[in-house]
Amino acid sequence: MKKTLKDIDVKGKKVLVRVDYNVPLDSDLNITNDKRIAATLPTIKYLLDNDAAIILISHLGRPKGKAVPEMSLKPVAPKLAELLGKPVKFVEGDCISADSKKAAADLKPGEILLLENLRFHPEEEGKNAAGEKDKAAMDAFAKQLASMGEVFVQDAFGTVHRAHASTAGIVKYVKDACAGFLVEKELKFLGEALDNPARPFVAILGGAKVSDKINVIENLLTKVNAIIIGGAMAYTFLKSQGVSTGRSLVEDDKLDLASDILKKAKEKKVDFLLPLDHVIVDKLNFSDMTVPADAKIDTTNDDTVPFGFMGVDVGPKSIEKFSSVVKSAKTIVWNGPLGIFEIDSFSKGTVELAKAVADATDNGAVSVVGGGDSVSAVKKAGVDKRITHISTGGGASLEFLEGKELPGIAALQDK
Ligand code: 3PG
Repeated sequence: MKKTLKDIDVKGKKVLVRVDYNVPLDSDLNITNDKRIAATLPTIKYLLDNDAAIILISHLGRPKGKAVPEMSLKPVAPKLAELLGKPVKFVEGDCISADSKKAAADLKPGEILLLENLRFHPEEEGKNAAGEKDKAAMDAFAKQLASMGEVFVQDAFGTVHRAHASTAGIVKYVKDACAGFLVEKELKFLGEALDNPARPFVAILGGAKVSDKINVIENLLTKVNAIIIGGAMAYTFLKSQGVSTGRSLVEDDKLDLASDILKKAKEKKVDFLLPLDHVIVDKLNFSDMTVPADAKIDTTNDDTVPFGFMGVDVGPKSIEKFSSVVKSAKTIVWNGPLGIFEIDSFSKGTVELAKAVADATDNGAVSVVGGGDSVSAVKKAGVDKRITHISTGGGASLEFLEGKELPGIAALQDK
């Protein structure tokens, strides 16, 4: 077990908190979704209640080691101040500049300081100014960050799958390093679902590629009672069984892999559910994800996709079957949409499954949803409030489901 906030003394101390404020901004640099900021409030409020001086560190976007003004964390400070009802200081320019260090040194208990985007420094991601991998440069940067505080709190769940200076490197330079409340909550829900699930345990996996989800599928095959597969990756599985898939997106180099997975599922007696029917279309503009006005949209009677068409959502028989499996589940993990849900005509499968997950949760199941698209899907279905836990981490929750060690967690001190 890793140390958490309540295991350490923060009273009167300078506490560095790694948060994931990688929030979406529009062209006027307005924050379009503040969920990741709101998710850090429990940790920040606890630290305020316990007289800590709080120094927040984060990345935003992928500026690749350069100062990119559009990726400044500046817009986050007033948003956090608004959510907290308390001023938040921000130092422009550089997170380890003399100004940043002075602001950190001058910070009093009960005050909050946000530093500039960590990724303006290549060292954050383990590189030097020439863009080469450089562990010594990363360590030196981590040490400078650490010098501004006495205690380190990891609350950036969305970033714990990265072995960066501010996630893993910093820990060895501080006296105390622990998980914040958000990280603790994420690990509790994801961890309990995988290690101690109430059964039946059902996983719903969607998305475009088998190759993106292969490690998750392999890991979940050892844990779940049933796996529901949707999204374009279903076509690779269907084609591997000799089913015609028309012009659907298929990873032809993954057909053997798909066959092997189906064999393993049978051996492990995991119910592996592929779509029984599909919503199909003959044309799609992939560049802007729109359906041309003269496109033909239809629904198949079985799992085959006719010549000239591509599958873009699961059909009504699949929705009925998948929903009944989901409604009998006691633990549900979901990652990835079942169709092109951004297009309304192809969103029904995903939306109906989201409702089934919410119904199952109302009846006592534990549901955990991770991954940016699945989170948007439960919102689109209007059921996000009825899900037990919606993860704030896309890549991080996926790597957790793969059973991988997360460097930002592994580095923290044990209890
Ligand atoms: C995310 O948005 O998933 C996290 O902030 C991590 O960002 P990254 O994929 O750029 O490391």
